[in-house]
Amino acid sequence: MKKVRKAVIPAAGLGTRFLPATKGLPKEMLPIIDKPTLLYQVEEAVNAGCEEVILIISKAKEDIKKFFVREESYEEYLRSKGQNEFADEIKRIATLCKITYVYQNEMKGLGHAILCTKDAIGDEPFLVILGDDLVINKNGPTASEQLIEAYNKTGKSILGVQKVSLEATKKYGIVDPISEDGRLIKMKGMVEKPASNPPSLYAALGRYVITSDIFDLLETTKPGKGGEIQLTDALKRLDSIYAYDFIGTRYDIGDKFGYVTAIIDLALDRDDLREKTLSFIKNKIN
Ligand code: G1P
Repeated sequence: MKKVRKAVIPAAGLGTRFLPATKGLPKEMLPIIDKPTLLYQVEEAVNAGCEEVILIISKAKEDIKKFFVREESYEEYLRSKGQNEFADEIKRIATLCKITYVYQNEMKGLGHAILCTKDAIGDEPFLVILGDDLVINKNGPTASEQLIEAYNKTGKSILGVQKVSLEATKKYGIVDPISEDGRLIKMKGMVEKPASNPPSLYAALGRYVITSDIFDLLETTKPGKGGEIQLTDALKRLDSIYAYDFIGTRYDIGDKFGYVTAIIDLALDRDDLREKTLSFIKNKIN
């Protein structure tokens, strides 16, 4: 069985839910305190063992590239000012892994975006991380590590899921399960954003390990929900597919309130900000 060596992060979307900020700034560059959300996703891929990250961008999102380019003169400048920690950090980011850019210049949906990586991926399984889903598992393996471990046992495409409220099922791809074995769920199929009668409460939350046979299926997948080529519609046509109920706190950072909660929680997790943030919140409550 081939190892998961490559990760795909779609980042071509316009990010209209965060206008006007996203008119001049790629949504993926919005920071959680001092770290762009995209960096969380790239680090998650690298920590899970990926050697290459394929970023799906568009002409309008080329600013993303600047963030990952090594700029030795800037590092030297920071060092000359005694800011060695920043110099080390920007060097670390620029040398994290190989980054390949693939263009999706038409907004035809997540399935279409993934299809754009066909040549960059080739014939091997790959990890997909969706930028709107930030998952933090403080004291254990990340969602991607959990999924890759489960993939290494099954050898089949597998999606990261968690249970959501009945009300929330209409926002996600929802799993139709056959059987459950601990956290591993064998799937019959799935439904993209069901308006009613969801087959379960298990929602796909932005982490997938997908085998390369998906590309032939994506090529013949017709536009579905919202007139877009849906990844869900291709996944459910695979011969065999699993879901994994991963451990971790998931933030919907594509949503304004979800973004605020992520910032508060991550501030509370940082030694330099915990006390100040806590006392600020306490004061507000009083
Ligand atoms: C996409 C997928 C959906 C999945 C969701 C997770 O939807 O199509 O199946 O549940 O991401 O965040 P989007 O939120 O991009 O519309």
